[in-house]
Parts: sequence; structure tokens; C-alpha cells
Amino acid sequence: RKVLGILASGRGSNLQSIMDAILADRLQAKIGVVISDKPEANALRRVIGMDIPAVCIERRKFASKQDFEQALAAELKLHRVDLVVLAGFMRLLGSEFLSRFAGRVMNIHPSLLPSFPGLEAQQQAIDYGVRVSGCTVHFVDQGVDSGPIILQEAVPVLPEDTAGILAERILAVEHVLYPRAIQLFCQGQLKLAGRRVLLEERGSHL
Ligand code: GAR
Repeated sequence: RKVLGILASGRGSNLQSIMDAILADRLQAKIGVVISDKPEANALRRVIGMDIPAVCIERRKFASKQDFEQALAAELKLHRVDLVVLAGFMRLLGSEFLSRFAGRVMNIHPSLLPSFPGLEAQQQAIDYGVRVSGCTVHFVDQGVDSGPIILQEAVPVLPEDTAGILAERILAVEHVLYPRAIQLFCQGQLKLAGRRVLLEERGSHL
């Protein structure tokens, strides 16, 4: 089984959906470690009693961003992580980290990229007035939410939506899409062709 290293800064509902998918055997993977940059992150609480190592690595404990990311990388290596899964991890990773895990870092973002990268994607969608938004799972490159796209799914934006209501509607889809994308990686079904990700079918429908 491929080993996942999950990085989460907050609530951890995507982490939960990944744990649930593994328990239900919809995802054949193992979580090697959960790392948060925030000691108070609810994500860390979700793994209590699950026999999954949970570690907090705080940026402020390191002199530089590079040292911080070195510590992240060391922890991931220690647990022999094959795929780094960003699940509400609210920091940009630098080039040194990304080159150590080239093609092996995934993120989920609450918009249909390349629309509305960065912070508060749901508010951006509402402010722009789009009728459709959604979520995107992508490989991470050095830009902000700019890497090769793996899966996307759309949800409607309704006239009375607030950012919070839209976020909830998108989140429900995230919880299905992220485990599915990770499973594709774990089954070796994702191939990079330039910036395009080709999905190799293995009898499983998407
Ligand atoms: C999710 O909606 C995720 O798409 C978003 O943060 C939320 C984390 O929720 N990520 C980003 O905005 C990344 N730029 P969670 O902690 O409950 O998984």
C-alpha cells in the first residue's frame, strides 16, 4: 500500500473523508503521518486513538521557511511517505521541498481552477457572479494553485448563497473527489504529459 503523509492546518474534514475511505476500503492506502503547522488544529484531534502518528511542526519554531520545510520533509521521509496530501494546509511550499517530492504532492482547492486561486475562493466566486463553481484536485507546483489538474467537479452557485453556504456545498463534493484522486494515484493510474494529467482506466469508473 502507498503511504500518505497528510498536511492539515485546520478543521480536518478532508482528512476525515480520507480516513473514512480507507476504512471503507474505497481507498487502498495507509496514512503514515498527519502533520499540522497549528497545535490547535482539529485535524490533529481526529487521529487520536487511530494508531496514526500525529505531529505538530510550527513555523515559528524555525529561523527560516527553508528550515521549517526541511523539518516537514524529514518527518515525511521518516514515515516513508509516497504521497504528500495537502488537506486544508494553508501555506505555500517552497521549491526545495517540492523538488524533493516532485510529482508527489497533491492539493484540493475549493474552486474550478484556474478560476479563483488563493485565499477565500468561495467568496471570490460569489463576488465575481459565476453561476457554477466547484473543486479541483491538482498536483502542486511552485505557483499558487497552478499545478496539473487531476479531477474537478462542479456545483451550482445559487443567488442567495453566502460564502459559507457555498463552501459547504463544495465541501460535500471535496469529500468524494479527494479520496478518489488519491486512489487513482495509489493505483498508478495518473500519468503526467506536460501539464496534463492522463487517467489510465483500470476497469474502475470515475
Ligand atoms: C477545504 O475547503 C479546502 O478545499 C480548502 O480549505 C478547506 C479545508 O477544510 N483549501 C484551500 O482553500 C487551499 N487553498 P478541512 O480542514 O475541513 O479539510
